[in-house]
Order: sequence, then C-alpha cells, then structure tokens
Amino acid sequence: MTPALFHGAWRLALVQGVAAALWSRVLRQPYWWAPIHLLFLPAAIALLTLQLPSWLYLLVVLLLALVFWGTVKGDVPLFLSSTAVADALTVIVDRENAGAFADLGAGVGSAAVPLAQHRAMIVDAWERAPLPWLVTAWRCRKLPNASAKRESLWGCDLARYDVVFAFLSPAVMVKLGEKVRREMRPGSLFVSSSFPVPDWQPESVVQIEDRRGVKLFCYRVVTTQQKK
Ligand SMILES: C[S@@+](CC[C@H](N)C(=O)[O-])C[C@H]1O[C@@H](n2cnc3c(N)ncnc32)[C@H](O)[C@@H]1O
Repeated sequence: MTPALFHGAWRLALVQGVAAALWSRVLRQPYWWAPIHLLFLPAAIALLTLQLPSWLYLLVVLLLALVFWGTVKGDVPLFLSSTAVADALTVIVDRENAGAFADLGAGVGSAAVPLAQHRAMIVDAWERAPLPWLVTAWRCRKLPNASAKRESLWGCDLARYDVVFAFLSPAVMVKLGEKVRREMRPGSLFVSSSFPVPDWQPESVVQIEDRRGVKLFCYRVVTTQQKK
C-alpha cells in the first residue's frame, strides 16, 4: 500500500469504526460489540501493513476453528477454570466420596486432570473441540482412571456419575438443568461454575478466591424434580 493510500485508508477505517460502534449501540447490541466494531477495520489495515504471508492468516483461522469448534453453531467458547476451582472440586469429590466424575465441556482438562490425579475415581472429560480435546487426551495419557471423550456433552449419560461439573454459559443452563434432572441419580451432585440453573435452589455456593471471584453452584439431585 502506498503511503498516501495508507493514510486515506486509516481515516476511512476510523470513520467506519466509529460509525459501526455507534450503530451497534443504537441497535442495542451487547456493549462488548462496540470496541470490536471500532477496532476491526483499523486492526485489519494495521495487519496489512505488516505484509505477513497469506498462509499465516489461514493457519490462524484453522487454529481458531480447532479451538472454538462449535462456537459459531452456539456452543460455549473455551475459558479455563483456575487451579483454585480445581482445588475446591477436589474437596467436593472427597466429601462426596465420588467414584465417578464428569466434566461437561472439559476444555484443556484444567479441572478434570487435577481431579484424576488427586483421586482414584473414574474421570470422564467430555470435550467436542478438537484441539482442547487433544490437549486433554495428552494430559490424561498416563492416568488410567481418566478418559477424554471427543463427543458432545449432550450425548453423555449423566446417570453414571456421582459428581458432574460444568463451566458453560447462561444460555445453556435451562437445557442442562433439564438434562441433569432427567438423568442424574438421586443423591448425586451437580456443580456449575459461575452460572446458576435458573429457579433452582443450590444446596451450597462455594466462593472461590481467584481472580474472577468464581462461584460454584452445587445442586443435590432429588427424586423426580429439583426443589425450587
Ligand atoms: C468455558 S469452557 C470450560 C473448560 C473447562 N471445563 C474448565 O473449567 O476449564 C467450555 C468448554 O466446553 C466445550 N463445549 C461447548 N459445547 C460443548 C458440547 N456441546 N460438547 C462438548 N464440549 C462442549 C467448549 O469447547 C469449551 O472447551
């Protein structure tokens, strides 16, 4: 790009970014869209000036697709639980005397792997995105009690587990609550990180002292219907 064209493009990109950010507010998009609209085109131009080889862009897109596999179809993206969350889960599985544990959407095994190392119980890490699943499978390779399942959490039979853990999103909590109610055995425990099941009364809420101040919502499964 010649310098004159480059400066012109910058100006246009800034005008476009500001207009798009303002328009996103008018359309009442979530607030975090505004900086994305504002910076998208300027960032694209900045990258063009670096004159990086085109295969690098393809590589980044492929890597992002392998990590955020189903996100475009509405799956929850990858965020990692802290070690403090994993520590709190070790206390919970010991207290529950758990023989089988599932992490629904296990990411890179931040919760599942330390739990499998901590306790000789079955640990199933359900993860659909290829790259996080591969990392979890690699981390589980020397743990005979742990397995990484590259399948959708919606196909998992929860009746097998004493404790089920999920760190997903508010968007799926109603559906997940229905699955828990349908499938988990009475007396077993469902633990949801950060997001409560709407209208359910948790047995306890564990406050984690990590950077995000995560809460673990613990639900005891009762006979046919969760207590309100
Ligand atoms: C917020 S991350 C949590 C990761 C991990 N449980 C932790 O606490 O660090 C959610 C994960 O769920 C996975 N996921 C989303 N929808 C899924 C589905 N339908 N089946 C399996 N995994 C899914 C995503 O790929 C992502 O890795």
